[in-house]
Amino acid sequence: MKMIREHHLRDLHWLPLPPGSFHGCLLLALCIGTALCACGADDHGLALTPPMGWNSWNRFRLNISDAVVRKQAGAMVKSGMKAAGYEYVVIDGGWEGYHDAQGLFRPNKLKFPDMKELCDYIHSLGLKVGIHTTPGPVTCSGREGSYGYEEEDARTFARWGIDLVKYDWCSGETAYKPTEITAAYEKMHQALLRAGRPILYSLCEYGLDDVWKWGASVGGHMWRTTDDISDEYWNVTYIGFEQNGLEKYAGPGHWNDPDMLEIGNGGMTDEEYRTQMSLWCILAAPLFAGNDLENMNAATLGILTNPEVISIDQDPAGIQGHRVWQEGPREVWMKPLKDGSKAVGLFNRLEYPLMITVNWRELGLRAPGTVRDLWARKDLGTFTTGFTGSVAAHGVVLINVK
Ligand code: GLA
Repeated sequence: MKMIREHHLRDLHWLPLPPGSFHGCLLLALCIGTALCACGADDHGLALTPPMGWNSWNRFRLNISDAVVRKQAGAMVKSGMKAAGYEYVVIDGGWEGYHDAQGLFRPNKLKFPDMKELCDYIHSLGLKVGIHTTPGPVTCSGREGSYGYEEEDARTFARWGIDLVKYDWCSGETAYKPTEITAAYEKMHQALLRAGRPILYSLCEYGLDDVWKWGASVGGHMWRTTDDISDEYWNVTYIGFEQNGLEKYAGPGHWNDPDMLEIGNGGMTDEEYRTQMSLWCILAAPLFAGNDLENMNAATLGILTNPEVISIDQDPAGIQGHRVWQEGPREVWMKPLKDGSKAVGLFNRLEYPLMITVNWRELGLRAPGTVRDLWARKDLGTFTTGFTGSVAAHGVVLINVK
């Protein structure tokens, strides 16, 4: 992006502007403004749709190593996850060693003997690599963080070939005042820019200080809006349904992140996992699988890779959906899509099946709507005033309405 911006500015030298001319100044201001807006804030054109990948934390916690990450990366390709759009392999907490006398961040060498080689391997599979660190002196697990080493660490990550940095507040409050959170994130943003490699910047500070209001201004391509997710229906729905109202802060290049997927980790039914996937796609959330990709069953793979469901999340208009109707445990959410159609989720939060109706007027539609069931991948017909679906316990019916 920086390059494009410089090109724009260089081109301006050729504009025949009479010195001091009001119109000339106006034109110059307009051109610079357009160049800056079109480029976004140093976003490198990354994350134009919500980022997709796999992250080690939900399933493996600190039990990660070069071997584990290689196997998961390989499984991402073999299973069809890569073909479905999953791209980043994120090494979360647990890789860290220490900063050496030169200030270089060394991985735990028993677990990650050669980080550059691991990155090369992941790149050779056509995938990208992410890594976790923290603005504070120690990570949430008490390992070394990046405080005081931001410049060195950004350069080290770039040298290894890292494509995504998850910057996780953790012990941030021991190093920064409560008013300095933004500054702490801007510091690493600047360091990453200086390191010169396009790196997706993933902010993780659990929504402190309404991060959605300033995350993009410090170069964030995504920012966690909540505390950590867990593999339980109550937690996933608490987090997911709480996202309503944040939709105005998301868009191409910068996304609200309600945390990673728990699909396939064993704590929920497949119906409940379909609920997480559906809700995350309506929310235009980043999709980071958090399960063991080497050992997943067909149902899990099916939930993670249904192309019609993923295309809701990845719709190029990049509009985050919102709740359009709720009555007790029945919720109707809607995401407008680029082709003018709408993705609609009928969610049942009760432990037994319910009928749920969406009336077209709630979607702002006046004409009859043609409905397709996205999980079943089946056309259901044309309906005059609305659609009623039978929704399983803790389940969802996800439809496209044209
Ligand atoms: C925090 C983050 C998690 C994970 C862990 C690692 O809790 O929110 O997503 O990165 O740290 O320690």
